[in-house]
Amino acid sequence: MELKEYLHTTYTDSGQQRPIRINKINRDYLPELLAKFNMTKGAEIGVAKGKYSEMMFKKIPNLELLCVDMWEVEEDKANQSKGQSYVDYTYENTKRRLAPFKARIIRGKSMDVVRNIPYESLDFVYIDANHEFDFVMSDIIEWSKRVKKGGLVAGHDYIKTRYFGVIEVVNTYTRAHGIYDVFLTKERSPSWFFCK
Ligand SMILES: C[S@@+](CC[C@H](N)C(=O)[O-])C[C@H]1O[C@@H](n2cnc3c(N)ncnc32)[C@H](O)[C@@H]1O
Repeated sequence: MELKEYLHTTYTDSGQQRPIRINKINRDYLPELLAKFNMTKGAEIGVAKGKYSEMMFKKIPNLELLCVDMWEVEEDKANQSKGQSYVDYTYENTKRRLAPFKARIIRGKSMDVVRNIPYESLDFVYIDANHEFDFVMSDIIEWSKRVKKGGLVAGHDYIKTRYFGVIEVVNTYTRAHGIYDVFLTKERSPSWFFCK
């Protein structure tokens, strides 16, 4: 069974509201799901300290992960208060944290990096960079193209706060593309995901 069919048969019911909140799972479960379907080529967009990347490496055997982050305070309102020297320090620590794994760390802006990634070359993408509407929309449009048909497109923070446009982007994008099975994890800051 493919992942798309698995998610549909396991978690959907006719008449459910979309997106479907799955009460049994949190975002730590996503790597387990990816491992179960042998999805070993992925990208995390927005890596910061690399903690989620590290967790994915520990749960997905033979994972090759593109770890994309600009590690720059410019542009990102959520990061501006931290200061550039703290972000530089985070970058160095992240490189050390991910050194034991097959991480391809790329320091750059998501939209610059994505141009060099071939279409349909990834099994999954996890989008967790700038959470403002325009950025999330660009990320979901461009990074989805890099995911194979049947692969997983996911991201973090399906919540409404001051600058965030994640809910609007995920709802608008999936509606426009006729994607009906959209799922959320159960946390206060849920992850969202769907199969391409
Ligand atoms: C919420 S943090 C990522 C957290 C990480 N995914 C985790 O779960 O541990 C967001 C990161 O996105 C990065 N970022 C923001 N805008 C970006 C952009 N346009 N391109 C690349 N990285 C970006 C920031 O530098 C920041 O480190």
